[in-house]
Amino acid sequence: MCGVRFIKAAAALLLLLLSLSSSVRSCPPSDRAALLAFKAALKEPYLGIFNSWTGADCCNKWYGVSCDQETRRVADINLRGESEEPIFEKAHRTGYMTGYISPAICKLERLSSITIADWKGISGEIPGCITTLPFLRIIDLIGNRISGRIPSDIGRLHRLTVLNVADNAISGTIPGSITNLTSLMHLDVRNNQISGPIPRNVGRLRMLSRALLSGNRISGLIPGSISSIYRLADLDLSRNEISGPIPASLGKMAVLSTLNLDMNKLSGPIPVSLFSSGISDLNLSRNSLEGYIPNAFGVRSYFTVLDLSYNKLKGVIPKSISSSAYIGHLDLSHNHLCGPIPLGSPFDHLEASSFLYNDCLCGKPLKPC
Ligand SMILES: *[C@@H]1O[C@H](CO)[C@@H](O)[C@H](O)[C@H]1NC(C)=O
Ligand SMILES: *[C@@H]1O[C@H](CO)[C@@H](O)[C@H](O)[C@H]1NC(C)=O
Repeated sequence: MCGVRFIKAAAALLLLLLSLSSSVRSCPPSDRAALLAFKAALKEPYLGIFNSWTGADCCNKWYGVSCDQETRRVADINLRGESEEPIFEKAHRTGYMTGYISPAICKLERLSSITIADWKGISGEIPGCITTLPFLRIIDLIGNRISGRIPSDIGRLHRLTVLNVADNAISGTIPGSITNLTSLMHLDVRNNQISGPIPRNVGRLRMLSRALLSGNRISGLIPGSISSIYRLADLDLSRNEISGPIPASLGKMAVLSTLNLDMNKLSGPIPVSLFSSGISDLNLSRNSLEGYIPNAFGVRSYFTVLDLSYNKLKGVIPKSISSSAYIGHLDLSHNHLCGPIPLGSPFDHLEASSFLYNDCLCGKPLKPC
């Protein structure tokens, strides 16, 4: 009697342990179901990346899926259409996918990153429900054909560090709530159809180091508050419809090294501060900037690119420019400059094209004065 009871109890315990350990090892059925619904909305005809999405355990060798070690909940979806992984090498091609991103993805409540990048053909909209995923740190949807808007309550994702929706067909405006993303480090919305202004209090994005907004229809002024973003190193607002003056405070930023404002409707003078700053890559081409080139170059001036072409600059090229530490690529063409081109080492390698189409520049590499 006693022995049978013991064996029964032991067997029950063993069963319990087995069921516990298997449920610990595989992903929850709800996560698996959400992934399968996500997959069902996509079509990937060339590589077969979804062929591995079979079996009960979605944490085990499902291509592009990874889970949290402890909870076994799906934590990352990482699907890149351009990769050097064997599956791509074997097919001798980059990825292509059509379909859309299913809102089923929002049932993966512990998602920390969503990377669905460079598949070229994924359309539809960003599911609005992704703003309910409290652990999301990375959204990377670059290089698809996604349309619609950036969800207006994107600001709820207070852990978000990367928002990359570049090279899509996103329209609408930059949501005001974006300024609540106080962990955001990398914002890339290049080459979409985004219109309207940059939120005035964008300076609240204290962690931002790259803000790439080029190739949209963004209008309005450059908010002065941008210059309070201490970590901002790369600001690209080129190819938009931004008007008004360049805030002088941009030249006082601690680590700003790339400032691209080319192809906008900026007017007024070029702030003197930009020439004695840490900015080494400065493109202000194709605006309506006027006045003189500030006589403010010095040994601290180090430019890999200094492109001021296609503006309304007048007067002489300041003599101090030849005291610059370095000027790699200079373009002053298509302005109203006049007078002798300064001599000096930063200029030795420059060609005539850097100076053409001005009112009356002269001297090497143009005609002698
Ligand atoms: C930003 O967050 C605060 C506090 O959570 C909230 O009150 C505010 O409405 C949010 N702002 C925007 C523009 O969403
Ligand atoms: C500066 O911007 C203009 C206009 O967008 C572009 O054509 C040019 O190539 C840029 N200059 C450099 C040196 O990249």
